[in-house]
Amino acid sequence: MKFLVTTRKPETIKTEGLALFHFEGESLAGPLKDMDKTLNSKISKAVKSGVFEGKQGQILLIDSLGKLPAEKIIVAGLGKRDAVTLEIIRRGAGISAKAFRDAGVKNFVTTLALAEVKGAQSGLLAQSAVEGTKLALYVFDQLKSEKQKKKIESVTVVSPDSVSEPAIAKHVRRGATLAQNACLARDLINLPSNIATPTYLANEAKKAAKELGIKCTVLGPKEIEKNKMGALMAVAKGSYEPARFIIMEWMKGPKKQKPIALVGKGLTFDTGGISIKPADRMEEMKSDMSGGAAVICAMRAIAALGIKANVVGLVPSTENMPGGSAVKPGDVATGLSGVTMEIINTDAEGRLILSDALAYAKRYDPDCVVDIATLTGACAVALGGFASGLFGTDDELIEQLKESGEATGERLWPMPLWPEYEDQIRSEVADVKNVGPRWGGAITAAAFLKKHVAGKWAHIDIAGTAYVSDKPRSYIPLGGVGLGVRLFVDFIERRLGL
Ligand code: BES
Ligand code: ZN
Ligand code: ZN
Repeated sequence: MKFLVTTRKPETIKTEGLALFHFEGESLAGPLKDMDKTLNSKISKAVKSGVFEGKQGQILLIDSLGKLPAEKIIVAGLGKRDAVTLEIIRRGAGISAKAFRDAGVKNFVTTLALAEVKGAQSGLLAQSAVEGTKLALYVFDQLKSEKQKKKIESVTVVSPDSVSEPAIAKHVRRGATLAQNACLARDLINLPSNIATPTYLANEAKKAAKELGIKCTVLGPKEIEKNKMGALMAVAKGSYEPARFIIMEWMKGPKKQKPIALVGKGLTFDTGGISIKPADRMEEMKSDMSGGAAVICAMRAIAALGIKANVVGLVPSTENMPGGSAVKPGDVATGLSGVTMEIINTDAEGRLILSDALAYAKRYDPDCVVDIATLTGACAVALGGFASGLFGTDDELIEQLKESGEATGERLWPMPLWPEYEDQIRSEVADVKNVGPRWGGAITAAAFLKKHVAGKWAHIDIAGTAYVSDKPRSYIPLGGVGLGVRLFVDFIERRLGL
């Protein structure tokens, strides 16, 4: 699918489909008004009768029966004009794109970049419309014999009056790159664990690195051992699949600028280990590498966009399996940070493998470290599927991440990290134990990670947000969300003022 830009008046364009928008509670405006006349007031009648109120999420699909240059038109409801955000543009664009595809349209024109969003330049609207479109049209059919037949081939974005075509085209390309990388992350998440093994993840990272000029180093079991990453080794012990530690370095910022380190949990399948999980929905645990996918694909996006920053991506990757050689409850591992960890529950493995990656990040003397992980069911219980948990040691860093969450629609919500929670993971036999009491499980997990960091650090728990299994949303289909890619790119630019 390709994206084009035009400065032509939308009502004059001959096209299979034209996507327009309408604000709730207003009378028809702009090109919609004239088109409505030509269509014998079909649209205004739908508005008056309440069939289409212009509420957010609603659409109206009309066949113009040869009366307009556009064969079909879709009017996307954007809700109240005052409340419109970039996220509402993404959603409206996503819903319209899916409706056109389902109606058999192959090429359409969208005017969603013409809606006004308070405080946002029109370039950002174009970017958001493209993101919503591309993310919504994602289909995972790699493993199906019969592929999705209906496909959108091109989307033409109508540029706002005052903005030149090349200026908007830049934003359109940016939106497409961001969405493409989020979709690659979705692929990695949706691929089953017999395909997306730690080795596969590492090879994907290497492939991306070669293509885009990123430095990539992959450590195997021997090097992981030589590097004294005892916690990662402990989790990997029960699996036949060899562990990998993936290092991606993009040092295209000023020489003296300390790098930002991104760390992602790359657990390619979480059975729970000896503390085995129940069978019900265990298949979803192929998504336990969503944080790792976010980091690999964020690095990809940063490089593809040529962002002048120093960024390091670290992904510890392994399976968590039971077996004769698996780590057992009560075992003690010594991690790279030197901290000894009593493994009370082998299903709390994410914090173990992350601890070694967080300790490894210190080698870069980073400006800050941000990790992202499907870490705790408790976080999903606390926040549900519409916000990820945000923890950390630095208020400014937390605030910047929260702002990025708002800007990208990948919302983050701050949680506390008071010392009392650290007391709850003191061990009788080692420095720390890997689980605390049942209550506050997302926080004790974060408190465990904190034992392994120095300097500014934030932790994002995406256990409730990385994978959708109940019902698809506007631009998020069932399966992997690809969360974190757009978030991290926004965050890096925000933090560095780019
Ligand atoms: N990968 C899981 C967390 C998870 C749960 C992710 C649900 C996505 C959906 C993690 O490794 C885990 O098993 N955590 C345990 C920790 C507990 C044993 C302290 C959990 O949340 O139950
Ligand atoms: Zn687990
Ligand atoms: Zn896990």
